[in-house]
Amino acid sequence: MTEPGPCYFVIFGATGNLASRKLLPALYELEAAGALHADLRFVAFARRDWNQNDWLGYLRLSLNQHLGRDCEAAVFERFAQRFDYVAGDLTDPQAYRRLLEELSKPRLGTCENIVFYLAIKPSDFLGVIEQLDRVGIRRAHGRHRIVVEKPFGEDLESARELNVRLHQHFDEEQIYRIDHYLGKETVQNLLVFRFANTMIEPIWNRNYIDHVQITVAESEGVGNRAGYYDGAGALRDMLQNHLMQLLTLVAMEPPATLDADALRDEKVKVLRSIRPIAPQAVAGDAYRAQYAPGRVAGQAARGYSEEDGVAKGSVAETYVAARFFIDNWRWRNVPFYLRTGKRLAENMSLIAIRFRHPPQLLFHDTAAAHIDPNWVLLSIQPTECMHIELHAKEPGLGMNTRIVRLNASYRASEATTMEAYKTLLLDVIEGDRSLFIRFDEVEWAWRVVDPILREWSRNREFIATYPAGTWGPREASRLFEREDQFWRNEI
Ligand code: BG6
Repeated sequence: MTEPGPCYFVIFGATGNLASRKLLPALYELEAAGALHADLRFVAFARRDWNQNDWLGYLRLSLNQHLGRDCEAAVFERFAQRFDYVAGDLTDPQAYRRLLEELSKPRLGTCENIVFYLAIKPSDFLGVIEQLDRVGIRRAHGRHRIVVEKPFGEDLESARELNVRLHQHFDEEQIYRIDHYLGKETVQNLLVFRFANTMIEPIWNRNYIDHVQITVAESEGVGNRAGYYDGAGALRDMLQNHLMQLLTLVAMEPPATLDADALRDEKVKVLRSIRPIAPQAVAGDAYRAQYAPGRVAGQAARGYSEEDGVAKGSVAETYVAARFFIDNWRWRNVPFYLRTGKRLAENMSLIAIRFRHPPQLLFHDTAAAHIDPNWVLLSIQPTECMHIELHAKEPGLGMNTRIVRLNASYRASEATTMEAYKTLLLDVIEGDRSLFIRFDEVEWAWRVVDPILREWSRNREFIATYPAGTWGPREASRLFEREDQFWRNEI
């Protein structure tokens, strides 16, 4: 990590979905919090043929809409003064010349510190980078960083190819691959929970843990993103990246230090140890489905196949559940159950760790004969909290037990995507790479899901469905190994 110094932050796709909904509101909030240093300037690059005033008018409207409130006049004023607008098509060399002119104006002295944020379709990444080289923006010696969003490729092979081509222009330490889940508070808290508490680490292994569940459930449907989502599906959109990252943080060994590479080395070791799923095992280890019409929060909801932009007869999965094993000393034979879906009953992201039964059923002749095992629950959203469920005796004459909860709720409602972006954007500006994904992580995560993708792409005729507003298909429970295992749907 280095001192930020003067810095240009160029946003490609500045009027697009991602920039409008996530980046600009997060940057505005950082401005409001006084977290942006004086020498930081933004260049908004977008296709619309606007001048500076048009852009600022749009920026204000867009912020008001996505912040859910009106911007504060003084904060907006400061924020707006940081911006320049460059109009142009991503494929037009003239537009890059105009960008070069903006970056060469003497506003920040001789500033060679530039962040290029590609808030654009992955298929446009390489075109943009080549244009930057061609007009000479990339010839300067400065610290240049490039930020790319997921999905990084669409399978192992395409991810490798994209990476080789990116590396023709940028070194690995200049590439910031974003997975916004790593910016979430509870996700980072997982490291603290595990490695700052002496009492946790000794029991965090196969001797005490029965299984791990990672759920990212969303009640929203595909919205206006069918153009992208229909070709991706939940496995590529969520499981290969967000859920795999959560899995690595639950399962990794303590890193030597907290620096970017030490952390990422440990995450990669986990991914490398995941037992490959053989083609004939895919049907038993992974389950996919698509939402059908139903009711969400009391309102009728369309099925996926009726959503705007979805191809006729599409078998894109909007739900995926899968079981993985990590073949190492700590985790061998402990199942990790991962599931994610759209149009599920609630918005809930939860890591639920179930412990084993006590070795002796001491209370079998009493009213407390059936004691559920302990759980550790790490809720990422909607609330950010941590619960440890323990058993205690119910006060009174009989031998009854009840569950008591050690409860560490630390924030009620801030676990928004924007909060995560605030953390990550500051990290990019400051050059801290610990919460970004190194290519070998992407590569190994693709290796894990590739066998499933391949099997599913061979069978494009049929997909099971579940009614919108439910917890997904009942058949997904067949992933569990024993009858006393079940999906944990509440905190
Ligand atoms: C994105 C996916 O990466 O994450 C979306 O592309 C998904 O499909 C979103 O809705 C979920 O993010 P969050 O922060 O709202 O849980």
